[in-house]
Amino acid sequence: MSRAKQVLIVTNETVAPLYLDKVRTAYTQFDTDVVILPDGEAYKSLETVNRIFDQLLTRRYSRQATLVALGGGVIGDMTGFAAACYQRGVQFIQTPTTLLSQVDSSVGGKTGVNHALGKNMIGAFHQPRCVVIDTDTLATLDDRQFSAGLAEVIKYGLINDPEFFSWLEAHAAALLARDSNALAYAIARSCHDKAAIVAQDEHETSGTRALLNLGHTFGHAIETGSHYVGHLHGEAIAIGMCLAAQLSAHLGELPQQQVERIRNLLQQVHLPVHIPATISVEQMLALMQVDKKVQQGRVRLILLQGIGKSLLTDDYSAELLHKTLIEGYAPTVCI
Ligand SMILES: NC(=O)c1ccc[n+]([C@@H]2O[C@H](COP(=O)([O-])OP(=O)(O)OC[C@H]3O[C@@H](n4cnc5c(N)ncnc54)[C@H](O)[C@@H]3O)[C@@H](O)[C@H]2O)c1
Repeated sequence: MSRAKQVLIVTNETVAPLYLDKVRTAYTQFDTDVVILPDGEAYKSLETVNRIFDQLLTRRYSRQATLVALGGGVIGDMTGFAAACYQRGVQFIQTPTTLLSQVDSSVGGKTGVNHALGKNMIGAFHQPRCVVIDTDTLATLDDRQFSAGLAEVIKYGLINDPEFFSWLEAHAAALLARDSNALAYAIARSCHDKAAIVAQDEHETSGTRALLNLGHTFGHAIETGSHYVGHLHGEAIAIGMCLAAQLSAHLGELPQQQVERIRNLLQQVHLPVHIPATISVEQMLALMQVDKKVQQGRVRLILLQGIGKSLLTDDYSAELLHKTLIEGYAPTVCI
């Protein structure tokens, strides 16, 4: 636990009324301040992080200070980035309150902000001192955000944990009902799976950590193509995972029956599985080129060789990618 005398809790306007008092009481023996930021991805910027620095400097926080992130991934990423930069690095604690942040963004040490020219383009690797998860906070999360978090949970099963995928199929209804035992198990296993991958490739140099981006190249294209308003991140990733699975099947790497299992599970937890009709195949292809995994003009994708077996590859044909995208739309119903 923290040895700091000074603790700055960073949260937002939505989460503060729900959980700030409770978290504050955990730090009563410290000299504690709070920064309440506006809510939303649009505020994940250097300008907003500057408000954290203003508070740290005004209150003369030392290098022994601890920052506490209380909120979803947006707050966690910004607080972690502020902690990485303040006096060249102070410690921070993650207290994630969305399912996505509990299973994904709070673990692994990626922190940062968006720039007008790119999402998450300014950042640093800075590991939290600890991650404190209270699954009860999920009671106030809306259904869409909750399902979006489940997309990342399912992702871990697909990447390298087939047994977990089967467990998720068996417990999808319990998770949707927010059964506390099922949630605690799924969150702990997701954190364990992510931490195991990060431990092999913390700074994403060998390609292992990139496996965590299953579905993301397609998903980011959908998020950008719908101007970040049509789909939540997890929803776009769900569609992206279906596309990655279908392309893998076309390549003969994944049985079609396993593609159906993946699609069924995603649909069962109320996630979309089709490309929105507002984005054309040509747009998808163009948007996929703007990806951190592009090398020498080739888009590298995370594909599946089975449920629980993923790989990063550019060994696929443009024709099969095109065919996969064409098939990726919802069938039109003729009346
Ligand atoms: N660092 C990483 O490794 C990593 C990984 C994945 C995603 N991310 C980042 O995480 C962000 C997305 O995180 P997110 O999905 O948590 O979004 P978010 O932080 O925007 O939270 C979603 C909404 O839920 C609200 N909220 C939070 N907790 C709540 C609760 N308990 N009850 C009710 N409402 C609550 C928030 O105020 C917000 O309105 C993105 O910026 C993404 O880039 C980072």
